[in-house]
Amino acid sequence: MAFTIEQVKALVREFPDFPSQGILFRDIFPIFRHPEAIECLVNHFVDHIRALNQQVDVVVGLDARGFLFGPLIAIKLGVPFAPVRKRGKLPGQVVSVTYMKEYGPDVFEMQADAIESGKSVVIVDDLLATGGSCKAAEDLVALMKGNVVLNAFVINLVGLEGHKQLKAPVYALIEC
Ligand code: PRP
Ligand code: ADE
Repeated sequence: MAFTIEQVKALVREFPDFPSQGILFRDIFPIFRHPEAIECLVNHFVDHIRALNQQVDVVVGLDARGFLFGPLIAIKLGVPFAPVRKRGKLPGQVVSVTYMKEYGPDVFEMQADAIESGKSVVIVDDLLATGGSCKAAEDLVALMKGNVVLNAFVINLVGLEGHKQLKAPVYALIEC
C-alpha cells in the first residue's frame, strides 16, 4: 500500500504520562512498521531539503531516534550521515557539548573528523521539545566549522518554543 504524507502523520501515537507523569509522549515507531510509510516520510524530507535549493553536504542525526531515518535521507541525497551520540559511545577524537535535560545536564558528542570545515549540514531528529538537544547538535557542528542550513523534525511541540534556541531554520512535518 502506498502511503500519503497525511496517512504517515496519522500513524504517530500519543501516550499520556510516559515516561513520567504529565508527559504526553509522541511515538513515531508505528511509522516504521510500514516500509511504504518510511519511504513516504523519507521522500517528504528529501523533497523539502531539495526545495531549499541550498548545498547540503552532510546529514547529522541525533541519538537515538534521529538514527532511524537520518541515514535514509542521506542515502537519497547522496551525502554522508554523521551521528550525534550520548557521552562515551564514540571512539577516537571527539568534540563535546553539555546541554540541559529535564533532570540535569547531559553531554552530546561527535567524532571530530565527521564534518569538514565549511560543509553544509542538515540536522534531523524525531522531535523538537525544549530545543536543548538540537542546540547542542548545532553547537557541535559549529565547533567543526560546519554550517547548519536546516533542522528537520517529524514533530515540533511548538508550545515549548524550542525553535528559539536554534540558529538555523526549523522544519517539522507535524506541529502540535
Ligand atoms: C528526545 C527526542 C529528542 C529530544 C528532544 O530524545 O528524541 O532527541 O528528546 O528534547 P529537547 O528538544 O527538549 O532537547 P531523548 O533525549 O529522550 O533520547 P532518546 O532518543 O535516546 O530516547
Ligand atoms: N522527547 C521529549 N519530549 C517528548 C515527547 N513528548 N514525546 C516523545 N519524545 C519526547
